[in-house]
Amino acid sequence: MARFLGFITALAATGAFALTPEQLLSTPRRGAADPSPDGTFALFSLSQYSFEKHKSSSSLKKIDLKTGAISDSGWNSSEINEYVWLPGTESGILYINGTGKNPGGVSLWIGDVKTPNTTTKVAELDAPYSGLKVANTSSGDLHFLVNSLAYPNGTAYNEETAVAPRSTARYYSDIYVRHWDTWLTKQRYNVFAGVLSSNGSYSLAGTGLRNLNHGVNFTTTQSETPVQPFGDSSDYEISPDGTLYAFLSKAPQLNKANYTASYIYLGAFAGSEPAVAFNGPETEAFKAGHQGASGQPKFSPDSSKLAYIQQDKDYYESDRWQLYTIDVTEEYGKVATSNWKALSAEFDRWVQGPLNWAHDQNSIYATAEDYARVKVFNFPLSADGEHKALTSNTSVSSYALLPDSSLLVTATAIWTPTEYSIVANGTKNTLFDASTVDLNLAGLSSATVSEIFYNGSDPNLKQQLHAMVVKPTNYVSNKTYPLAFIVHGGPQGSNANTWSNRWNPQTWADQGYIVVAPNPTGSTGFGQYLTDAIQGNWGGTPYTDLVNAWNFVNASMSWIDTKNGICAGASYGGYMTNWIQSNDLGKEFKALVTHDGISQTQAAWGTEELWFIRHDYNGSIWESDVYDKWNPFNHIANWSTPQFVIHNTLDYRLPESDGLGLFNVLQARGIPSRFLNFPDENHWVLKQENSLVWHTEIFNWINHYSKGTPLDDVPIGN
Ligand SMILES: *[C@@H]1O[C@H](CO)[C@@H](O)[C@H](O)[C@H]1NC(C)=O
Ligand SMILES: *[C@@H]1O[C@H](CO)[C@@H](O)[C@H](O)[C@H]1NC(C)=O
Ligand SMILES: *[C@@H]1O[C@H](CO)[C@@H](O)[C@H](O)[C@H]1NC(C)=O
Ligand SMILES: *[C@@H]1O[C@H](CO)[C@@H](O)[C@H](O)[C@H]1NC(C)=O
Ligand SMILES: *[C@@H]1O[C@H](CO)[C@@H](O)[C@H](O)[C@H]1NC(C)=O
Ligand SMILES: *[C@@H]1O[C@H](CO)[C@@H](O)[C@H](O)[C@H]1NC(C)=O
Ligand SMILES: *[C@@H]1O[C@H](CO)[C@@H](O)[C@H](O)[C@H]1NC(C)=O
Ligand SMILES: *[C@@H]1O[C@H](CO)[C@@H](O)[C@H](O)[C@H]1NC(C)=O
Ligand SMILES: *[C@@H]1O[C@H](CO)[C@@H](O)[C@H](O)[C@H]1NC(C)=O
Ligand SMILES: *[C@@H]1O[C@H](CO)[C@@H](O)[C@H](O)[C@H]1NC(C)=O
Ligand SMILES: *[C@@H]1O[C@H](CO)[C@@H](O)[C@H](O)[C@H]1NC(C)=O
Ligand SMILES: *[C@@H]1O[C@H](CO)[C@@H](O)[C@H](O)[C@H]1NC(C)=O
Repeated sequence: MARFLGFITALAATGAFALTPEQLLSTPRRGAADPSPDGTFALFSLSQYSFEKHKSSSSLKKIDLKTGAISDSGWNSSEINEYVWLPGTESGILYINGTGKNPGGVSLWIGDVKTPNTTTKVAELDAPYSGLKVANTSSGDLHFLVNSLAYPNGTAYNEETAVAPRSTARYYSDIYVRHWDTWLTKQRYNVFAGVLSSNGSYSLAGTGLRNLNHGVNFTTTQSETPVQPFGDSSDYEISPDGTLYAFLSKAPQLNKANYTASYIYLGAFAGSEPAVAFNGPETEAFKAGHQGASGQPKFSPDSSKLAYIQQDKDYYESDRWQLYTIDVTEEYGKVATSNWKALSAEFDRWVQGPLNWAHDQNSIYATAEDYARVKVFNFPLSADGEHKALTSNTSVSSYALLPDSSLLVTATAIWTPTEYSIVANGTKNTLFDASTVDLNLAGLSSATVSEIFYNGSDPNLKQQLHAMVVKPTNYVSNKTYPLAFIVHGGPQGSNANTWSNRWNPQTWADQGYIVVAPNPTGSTGFGQYLTDAIQGNWGGTPYTDLVNAWNFVNASMSWIDTKNGICAGASYGGYMTNWIQSNDLGKEFKALVTHDGISQTQAAWGTEELWFIRHDYNGSIWESDVYDKWNPFNHIANWSTPQFVIHNTLDYRLPESDGLGLFNVLQARGIPSRFLNFPDENHWVLKQENSLVWHTEIFNWINHYSKGTPLDDVPIGN
C-alpha cells in the first residue's frame, strides 16, 4: 500500500490527474464487506476488467476488521458461486459449487474460510440453484432455502437438460409478455427448501427439495419469488431457529402489468400447507390501507417477529416505503400472526434494506436516502421511538451488524467506488478507501465535490432544491469550464453522492467540464412531496426547476461557462433532454445527449410497466390528456440543438423505436445528430467494451460542440 500511496503523492505534485473512461472501467470493483460470524474479518469479492486481455478476472478477498489488512482468502472464486456463513460457527460456510455431478446442476459444500483445503460435499442438486440461506436447528440439522426457475408443476427447471422446443414462437393471451430484457416463458422463479441432516456429517435429507411457491393459490398472477427482474435472496428468509420461512410474491389477484402490489407469505418449514400472506386482502395491514409492494422480510434473532417494508398504493412504484413488524408463532405446522405495528409512519423518507435487528431486538437498522446520500438509520421498536442516522456523508451500499453491535459499512461516494468502515458509538473508523489505493483513481477526493441550493418553481414546496456540483480533478481556480448539465432518470431517482460505473460524474468532469447534477421535482431523498409532485407533470415543474437551476448557475457561478454548456440524461433524463430540446432551455446548450429516453409519449404504451405510465401520466392513454401535454414530438418545430441519441435493443421498457424516431426526425430536419445502438444491452450499458465505446463517442460529440475538438468519423453511414 505504501508504494501506491507514494505514487499517488507523486502524481499529486504534478497535478496530472484525470479519470478517463478506460480507467473508470478497468478499476477494481469490490463487493460488500461480509463479516464472519465471530466478527474478526470480512470477505469481499473483487473483479477487474482488463482492456489488454479483454476479459475480467475475479477473486475472493479477506479484510481484517482490526487492522484493515487485506489478503487473499485462499478460495478459488470461480469454483464458489456463492456462500453463506454457518450460524453458530466462527467462520464456517455453506457454499454452492458451480460444478456438480448432474449436468446443469450445482453442489452444496461445507467448509471453513480459515481452512480452504478441508471442504466436504454435502449435496448434489439437479438444477442451477442460487440464493442460499441457512439456519441451524435445535436438532443440529441445517435448514436451507435456494431458488430456481421452475415448471408450472413445481419441478425445478434445468436449461441444460430441458427438451428444446422445435419452434421459437412466443405466444400470449394476456398482457405482460416481456419485462426489462426478458420475454416471459412458462417457467417462474420459485423458492425451494431442503434439510441437511446432521449425523456426524451432513447429507441432504431423503425428501429432497420442496418448492415453497407451488400450491400458493392465484387467480391472475402465479406465485413467483424472487420477484423479477431485480429480486434476489432478500425476497425470502428463513427464521434463525429454522422453523419458519417467509417470501415475497406479487399480488395473486392482480395483473402484473397494471400493479406493483406484492405480499409477504409465511409458512412452517416442517409443515405441508402452502404459505399464507399476512398482508394480503382481508388482513389488518391491507384494511389499514397498506396495499402496495412489500419487501425485505427479516426475522428477529429469537424468530418471534418479522420486520418488513411496504408501500401503500398498489400501482405506484415510487410511493413511500415504510417499516413494519409483526409477531409470528408456529404451532402444529400452522403459522399465526399478531401485533402488527408500523414503525416509520412519521419518517418522510423511504425505508430500504438491508434490515437488521439489533442483538437485543429493541430496534431495527435500515437504510434510507436522505439529501443525496444513503444513510444507515436505527428505528427503535418502542411506540414513539425516534429514528437516528448513524452515517453521514457517503452513500451506504451495504452494512452488517457485528457481534459487539458496531456496524461494518460498505459505502461509495463521487470520490470513491468502495469504502469499508466501522461505525461504533458515533465514530467512524475507515478500514479501506479504494481511491487512496487504486492507481486508476489517483487524485480523487471530496475536494472536487460540492452542492448548491436554489429555489424551486413549485410555490407549495417548503424547501430549496439541491444539485451536486463536480469539478475536474485538475481544476484550476482562475479558469472557466463549460457546464455539463446532467438530468437523472427515474424520474423518481436522484443525482446523489454515489459512485457509478455508468454515469460517473467525475469522469464527465474530467473531460474538462463542471458537472451540475440537479434534483428537480420528482427526485427522491428530499421528502415524499417532491417525489409525488411529478405525477401528471413530467414537462411542468421539473422543467421549470431545471431552468431555475441553470439560471442560478449562470447568475452566480462565474467559473462555469454556460455559453458552451451541454445537457445529457438517460431514461427520464433522456425524456427531459428531449423536452429541453423542445423548449427554450434547449437553445442554451451546444449539444444534447439522450440515452434510452421517451421522445413520443404516446409510444410509452409499448412498455410492459403499465403501472408506471398509468400513475405518472394520470391514467391510461385513452383517459388522460397528459400524454399529449408533455409530448416532445408535439414540438419538433422548436428542435435545433445538435443531439446524440443512444437506444439499446434489449430495453423492453422503452422500445428502441423511440430512439430511432427521434434520430430520424433530427436527421430529416438537418439537425446534426448521431445514433448509437447496442444490440446486447438493456436499459444500461453493462459490458466494459460497449461502455468504452459509449463514453468515447459521447465525449467526442460533446467535446466537438462545446470545445471545437474534431469530430471522429467512426459511425457507419452513407
Ligand atoms: C480455479 O478453478 C477453475 C475452475 O475449476 C480452474 O480452471 C482454475 O485453474 C482454478 N484456479 C486456481 C488458481 O486454482
Ligand atoms: C447447531 O445447533 C446445535 C444445537 O444447538 C449445535 O449442537 C451445533 O453445534 C450447531 N451447529 C453449528 C454448525 O453451529
Ligand atoms: C467444486 O467441485 C469440483 C467438482 O466436484 C471439485 O473438483 C472442486 O474441488 C470443488 N471446489 C470447491 C472449492 O469446493
Ligand atoms: C491448500 O492447498 C494448496 C494446494 O494443494 C496449497 O498450496 C496450500 O498451501 C494449502 N493451503 C493451506 C491453508 O493448507
Ligand atoms: C414437470 O414438468 C416437466 C416439464 O414438462 C417435466 O419434465 C417433469 O417431469 C414434470 N414433473 C413432474 C413431477 O411431473
Ligand atoms: C447415523 O450414523 C450412524 C453411523 O454412521 C448410522 O448407524 C445411523 O443409521 C445414522 N442415522 C441416521 C438417522 O441416518
Ligand atoms: C386455495 O384454493 C382452494 C380452492 O379454491 C381452497 O380450497 C384452498 O383452501 C385455498 N388454499 C389456500 C391456502 O388459500
Ligand atoms: C389495467 O388498468 C386499466 C386502466 O385502469 C384498466 O382499464 C384495465 O381494466 C386494467 N386491467 C387489469 C387486467 O387489471
Ligand atoms: C459503545 O459504548 C458503550 C458504552 O460506553 C460500550 O459499552 C461499547 O463497548 C461501545 N461499543 C463499541 C463497539 O465500541
Ligand atoms: C461531505 O461531502 C462534501 C461534498 O458534498 C464535502 O465537500 C465535505 O467535505 C464532506 N464533509 C465531510 C465532513 O466529510
Ligand atoms: C428564493 O426564495 C426566497 C424565499 O422565497 C426569496 O427570498 C429569494 O429572493 C429567492 N431567490 C431567488 C434568486 O429568486
Ligand atoms: C492562475 O493561477 C495560477 C496559480 O494558481 C497562476 O500561476 C496563473 O498565473 C494564474 N493565471 C491567471 C491568468 O491569472
